[in-house]
Amino acid sequence: MEPFRFHLFVCTQQKPEGVPSCSANGAFTVLNGLDREIQACGFGGDVQLTTCGCMGLCDEGPVMVVYPEGVWYRHVQPSDVSEIVGQHLLYGKPVDRLIWNDASAMKAMSIEHGEHFRQALAAREKAGTLPDRLSDLIRAYMPSRCILTALELDIFTAVGGGANAEQIGTRIQANARAVGVLLNALVALGLLSKSGDHYSNTPESARFFVQGSKDNHRDGLLHTANIWHRWSTLTEAVRRGTRVPIYQDSSPEWTPNFIAGMQRNSKDRAPTVVKAVGTTGVRRILDLGGGSGAYSIAFAKACPDVNCEILDLPEVVPLTAEYVRKAGVAAQVTMRAGDMLRDNFGSGFDIIMLNAICHMFSEEQNLDIFCRARQALAPNGRLVVQDFILDPDMTGPQHAVLFSVNMLVGTEAGASYSEVEFTSWMKAAGLTEVHRIKLPGPSDLIVGRMK
Ligand SMILES: C[S@@+](CC[C@H](N)C(=O)[O-])C[C@H]1O[C@@H](n2cnc3c(N)ncnc32)[C@H](O)[C@@H]1O
Ligand code: FES
Repeated sequence: MEPFRFHLFVCTQQKPEGVPSCSANGAFTVLNGLDREIQACGFGGDVQLTTCGCMGLCDEGPVMVVYPEGVWYRHVQPSDVSEIVGQHLLYGKPVDRLIWNDASAMKAMSIEHGEHFRQALAAREKAGTLPDRLSDLIRAYMPSRCILTALELDIFTAVGGGANAEQIGTRIQANARAVGVLLNALVALGLLSKSGDHYSNTPESARFFVQGSKDNHRDGLLHTANIWHRWSTLTEAVRRGTRVPIYQDSSPEWTPNFIAGMQRNSKDRAPTVVKAVGTTGVRRILDLGGGSGAYSIAFAKACPDVNCEILDLPEVVPLTAEYVRKAGVAAQVTMRAGDMLRDNFGSGFDIIMLNAICHMFSEEQNLDIFCRARQALAPNGRLVVQDFILDPDMTGPQHAVLFSVNMLVGTEAGASYSEVEFTSWMKAAGLTEVHRIKLPGPSDLIVGRMK
């Protein structure tokens, strides 16, 4: 049975550098081109495009198969896409020049490939070679460090419309030879392109890393660059059981970069949170550790009757005020400089929010915050916690587990926590109707009500 008029399988298998593969021959560009063209032709669900793993014909890649006829195409190039869609899918006429129908040769090649593959695996196994997966995990810091340094030096902005290593070195006041080494690595990582001695931004780098671009993420990503230094202390932090203070923590850029990094993610998530929590009957919100104010801003924009108060550290509040002013909701969102670990929260709030807060603190500190938050809620008010939530055995999901390590190197006693832990603090604080709201993306909500 074939539920689609056509079902296309495109091999996008990736292999170690130097080993022939469909991905190395441009399968992803072909795939994206097919997707675009299929959408543009409006097949309305009659055509399904699916990626697949190696079919053992790697020297002939990119390889694809079109069902239900079982037409095999090889050496498919982006320039072939419109012909495949326009001729084969629209009019049912396969593109003869790309067809590979020598079944016995294909079968022989595929079987030989399978045998080679198994022999290579057996030889590596016998020699005790470190598996690629482990090797890649261990060296993952190399590409990461190249990109972070490029961001720190603002290399993508310096590349601008295109330049050579010497010109870029002059623009960022760095050594031209060393800049060339880094630029070549960025080309190898697919973040720049090179023609002769001339480097250019890829469309992706130009969009996300260049100053002045609407979608520039550099400011927020510099927070990740700052965190790098903390991660270098992990070994010592594990020995000590807490973070190891480093001088970067007190650098003047730390706080603006941190808040910019949070703002980038939070402003995209905020409308989903507002929708999940709702604004019916909500008049007063306390946003503990509101940072850029992204969530308060979203609530204020969603409902003109809502007033939010953001409590954050004195050094953050001026930054918060600027984000709130730019969002045009200063009349509804006020700021209070303070310390949520000590301050009285006030009273009569319909919602108290803790977005990305609990992971900074210990279990005892969180329980204390929850208890004081409950006292500050109006009858029927809700405590809304958003965080990465660990599985019950604390070994997944991977992002939450790795974030726990991030808190180990960055805080006194912070960590990621499980739903059981959040729920137990809510109940111990006297909140009822405690439940989890799953959201798209990496974090969920835990909500409890004051009765
Ligand atoms: C991870 S950010 C979350 C920001 C914001 N809630 C969001 O999700 O975008 C943590 C925030 O808590 C603030 N913060 C940390 N410790 C605090 C404390 N003791 N009292 C008040 N705010 C604090 C930080 O300044 C920062 O704005
Ligand atoms: S990588 Fe595509 S057929 Fe082997």
